[in-house]
Amino acid sequence: MPDLSAAAFAHPNIAFIKYWGNCDPESRVPANGSISMNLAGLESRTTVMFDESLADDELKLQGEPAPGAALARVGHFLDVVRRLAGIDAYAKVVSENNFPMGVGIASSASAFAALALAATRAAGLDLPEIELSRLARLGSGSACRSVPGGFVEWQVAGCEEDSHAFSLAPPDHWDLVDNVAIVDREHKRVGSTEGHTMAHTSPLQRARVDDAPRRLDICRRAILDCDFEDLAEIMELDSNMMHAVIMTSEPSVMYWNPATLAIMREVTAWRGEGLPVCYTIDAGPNVHVIVLAESSDAVQARLHQIPGVLEVITARPGGPAHLLPTP
Ligand code: PMV
Repeated sequence: MPDLSAAAFAHPNIAFIKYWGNCDPESRVPANGSISMNLAGLESRTTVMFDESLADDELKLQGEPAPGAALARVGHFLDVVRRLAGIDAYAKVVSENNFPMGVGIASSASAFAALALAATRAAGLDLPEIELSRLARLGSGSACRSVPGGFVEWQVAGCEEDSHAFSLAPPDHWDLVDNVAIVDREHKRVGSTEGHTMAHTSPLQRARVDDAPRRLDICRRAILDCDFEDLAEIMELDSNMMHAVIMTSEPSVMYWNPATLAIMREVTAWRGEGLPVCYTIDAGPNVHVIVLAESSDAVQARLHQIPGVLEVITARPGGPAHLLPTP
C-alpha cells in the first residue's frame, strides 16, 4: 500500500449571503446559493492516517478523544472517501482548531474542508478543487466554501448533487476585516444541521429562498466592484432574513441576546456616521462586524466599549484549503 497519511489546513468562512435550509438534507444540497469570505488566521489542521490494523475509525479533537456523535459524523464522511478510493481501511483522524468551537465561527466548515483534502490525499486520490468542494459539502454544507480561497460563491442549480463552491476573487482583492464580537462562549443550543431541517417550517423561508438570486447578484457585484455601501446593505438584510426565518420556524429559535442587539444597533448607527462597517450573524449570538481595514482599529475600540462584549476576534480574507507536510 502507498503512504496512507496526509495533513491539510483550512480556514473557516463567514457567509455574507447565508445558506439556511436544504433541498436534500442527506447530501446537503442547499435551498439557496450563498457567498462568503474565508477567515485568515483562524484555522483547522487535520491529519488522516488510514491503517489496516484499526478496528474502527478514531477521532481526536483538540487533543481529546471526540464524543460519539462527532466520531459518527466523521466516520460517515470517511465512508464516502473509502468508496471513492476503493479502500476499506479505517482511519485515525487528529484535528485541531486555533479558535473556539460553537461560538458562531463555523468550525465545522474548516474542519470538513481540511478533512476532505487530508482524507482524499491519504487515500491516494488527487481531486480537482470543484470535486473537493462537493465532497466537503457532504460533511458540512458551508465546508464546501472553505475549499476555494478568498471570496467564494456556492451556487445551486435546481437541486443538483453537483452543487459546489468556487472563488469569486482572491483574498487580496479587497481589504476587509471581520471583527467577531464574542458575547457568549457557550455552545449553541440548536446547531445548524438541526436548524436546516426546520427552515421549511417558517412561512418566511419560501420568500427568502425565492429572493436569494437577487441578493446574490447584488452581493457578488458589490464584492467585484469593492462597493462597501451595497455590500453592507445586502449583508445586513440577508442576515436579518435568515434570523426572521429562524425565529418563525417550528419550534421557534432566538439566537440573539441583548448584547447581540446592542451591537447591531451600534453598527448601523456608526455606518450612519460614515464608518464603513456592517454586521452579519450566523446561528448563534456572536456578531461578525465587517469593516474596511482602514477603520478596523476604530471599530474594535468601539466594540470593546459595548457592555457584554467579552472578546473581539479579528480575521482578514483567507486563502484556500491546502496540504501540510505530514507530521
Ligand atoms: O454548514 P452548516 O450546516 O454549519 O450551516 C451553516 C449555516 C450558517 O452558518 C448560519 C450560514 C452559512 O451560510 O454559513
